[in-house]
Amino acid sequence: GRYQIYVTRSDMPESGVQLLKDQCDVNLWNQPSPVPRAELLKEVAGVNGIYCSLTDKIDTELLDAAGPSLKVVATISVGHDHIDVAECKKRGVRIGYTPDVLTDATAELTLALLLATSRRVPEAIYEAKTGGWVSWAPTWMTGPGLAGATVGIVGFGRIGQAVARRVKAFNTERIIYFNRSHRPEEKETGAVKVSFDELLTQSNFVICCAALVPETKEIFNKEAFEKMKNTAIFVNTSRGGTVDQDALIEALKTNKIRAAGLDVTSPEPLPLDNPLFKLSNCVVLPHIGSATIEARNTMSELTARNILAALHGTDMPAELK
Ligand code: GLV
Ligand code: GLV
Repeated sequence: GRYQIYVTRSDMPESGVQLLKDQCDVNLWNQPSPVPRAELLKEVAGVNGIYCSLTDKIDTELLDAAGPSLKVVATISVGHDHIDVAECKKRGVRIGYTPDVLTDATAELTLALLLATSRRVPEAIYEAKTGGWVSWAPTWMTGPGLAGATVGIVGFGRIGQAVARRVKAFNTERIIYFNRSHRPEEKETGAVKVSFDELLTQSNFVICCAALVPETKEIFNKEAFEKMKNTAIFVNTSRGGTVDQDALIEALKTNKIRAAGLDVTSPEPLPLDNPLFKLSNCVVLPHIGSATIEARNTMSELTARNILAALHGTDMPAELK
């Protein structure tokens, strides 16, 4: 019979969904909102493949609900902290993800957030629209420039390196990075590896591109923000879990750092009454790092091709091992 696939969102880009429909019976969650957990647990019973996103927790409970027919879980994301990888492996469930195809998109958004935060773009738009723009003023709406600055990148994988290449075009003085393992690509941008403490103390801009793993959980804590320059701008486009968010709020409120730009928070979505929304020195985006039209279409196709390859028992184009 045909393979049974469950897709956790009704709005997954059609490019990938159609590839699956050509060869499989595809059941999509039928609402625009994320599938409720109870519904998800019911719908995955007996399927061979799950096409999920980073908002779906793939844990023991979910794998039990799917049962032994499940061969593959493919996520339309490069991050995989929502997936219990060890548990999948134990059960022989293969995992697909979407590295590389979203690197440019996420690096572009990181630069957008960096500039929006340093040059206070949302604040300036608000002022222009609400009467705050009374005349050109020499010190009004000023912020630090990238030219001549030291930029520190924490997590120097694909995305971190792509950010470095873009940042270099802004005539930065120095690019430094911290990564748990050595990255041979450092020559291309002249980026220099330093310790985490050195990065914190020396950077005018601190950018987090590190995957969320036990070693990076809340590495941006009270001590880290205290070590940063009080003129520093902090930008996070990886996962909210790398930051002790209460410590960040305190650092922003007390001007321990100048400003923060966040594409990721804890939790997501960030509740409307969260203090971060009330701080004029914080720019919050709703986790749109990979949201170019091109990247999302390619991510969807890659997710489908991961599923089809796993079902056919062949090499997956992007398997998490
Ligand atoms: C997005 O955050 C991703 O992991 O792809
Ligand atoms: C970023 O660090 C990635 O793994 O793509």
